[in-house]
Amino acid sequence: MNWWEGEFLRVKNNKLYLESRSAEQLAEKYGTPLYVYSRQQILRNLRSLREAFSPAPAGLEVRMAYAMKANPHPGLLKTLLKEDCWIDAVSPAEVEMAIRAGFTEERIMFTGTSISQEDFEQVLKHPGVIVNIDAYEQIALLEAARKRLRIKGPVRVSVRWNPGLGRGFCSKTVTAGDRSSDGTPIKFGLEDSLVLGTFKRLKNLGLKPAGLHQHLGSGWTEEDFPVIIKAVDRMVKKAGELKKAGFQLEFLDFGGGFGPKYREEQRLFPLPEYAAYILDRVESAKLGLKAIVVEPGKHLLAGAGVLLVRVEYIKKSYGNLFACVNAGTYNTVPRPAIYEEAYHEIVNASRVNGGKKVKITIAGHLCETGDVFGVERMLPLPQRGYILAVLMAGAYCRSMASHFNLRDIPREILL
Ligand SMILES: Cc1ncc(COP(=O)(O)O)c(C=O)c1O
Repeated sequence: MNWWEGEFLRVKNNKLYLESRSAEQLAEKYGTPLYVYSRQQILRNLRSLREAFSPAPAGLEVRMAYAMKANPHPGLLKTLLKEDCWIDAVSPAEVEMAIRAGFTEERIMFTGTSISQEDFEQVLKHPGVIVNIDAYEQIALLEAARKRLRIKGPVRVSVRWNPGLGRGFCSKTVTAGDRSSDGTPIKFGLEDSLVLGTFKRLKNLGLKPAGLHQHLGSGWTEEDFPVIIKAVDRMVKKAGELKKAGFQLEFLDFGGGFGPKYREEQRLFPLPEYAAYILDRVESAKLGLKAIVVEPGKHLLAGAGVLLVRVEYIKKSYGNLFACVNAGTYNTVPRPAIYEEAYHEIVNASRVNGGKKVKITIAGHLCETGDVFGVERMLPLPQRGYILAVLMAGAYCRSMASHFNLRDIPREILL
């Protein structure tokens, strides 16, 4: 059995099947390139997250706020709405999309960085949305927007703080700490020394401070666990300090970041231990919270989607072998082109195993050397017309895709 096989992806007669449908048949019916998502797999992923948090005591709600930047497909949003999820939105357009999908304002939190007054005005057209403040300086813009829209009622706010520690699978996806692993200054959240003052200011303005939020980065593996739980400790300690200062919070939001497995050798982030740790610390700190929140993106969606592409020809050059496919990374699965460390398993869906494996680079149709889905992978030799599946394409693929070279962004289907 291949390491990536499971309920969604299976091999039958040496062909790849997605749920009960063969990749070749789907490619034939809907054309390629094609994103294929599995509703059942999203629900399985959601279930595993809920199970991890199931020891939560009665009276402490655990909110699953889907980070819709991972994939804002309306069908997925509707699926998660039915499952009682909340929404983490990071732009006014995401807020609008969530409302259109049927989420009530109260179930959406807007977390914006480098936000304009106009952004806040658009968001506050839905005054029930929780506004998560990312900078002390945003308060003035929020106030200006509130005045302009003549919003009288108390807007619910939260504060995104930066606990001084962060982790991610690469430097671009570390979102807390002073600098990322490559030295880039980190722009997110409020530093420790500003948090209490910000809460006071928000309260004095008649806003309703409801929560404290952190998001440490994306794509954690087992090695990240010790740092992540240190940041959990810091968050709980900070909430205790706020409580002492008179701020009874409704929720603590621990953000997303817990990644699924992208490669065989990757050691999975221990989600049940993480959940148990959060629950234990929150309970022993007696914070009187109504809820804790997590913001899953990759966990729910990454493994629930694949991209199907067709091999147009096999090319040899200077001893290199290429499977040239009818898609470009930037237009479909841009992560490997954006992040050097990103990896997507590629499966020869027309002939999964058997025969002699060759070392082959899967090349896209864009004018850029970096436009390769995978470099020198070992695959059963593909032929013209074969279908290849790029795995883990459910999150941060369609949502990050561009029209580079005026190529289309592929169609999406939800099984
Ligand atoms: C504020 C916030 N929450 C949640 C997430 C989701 O992260 P992930 O998909 O790694 O779970 C992100 C993504 O970067 C984010 O910026």
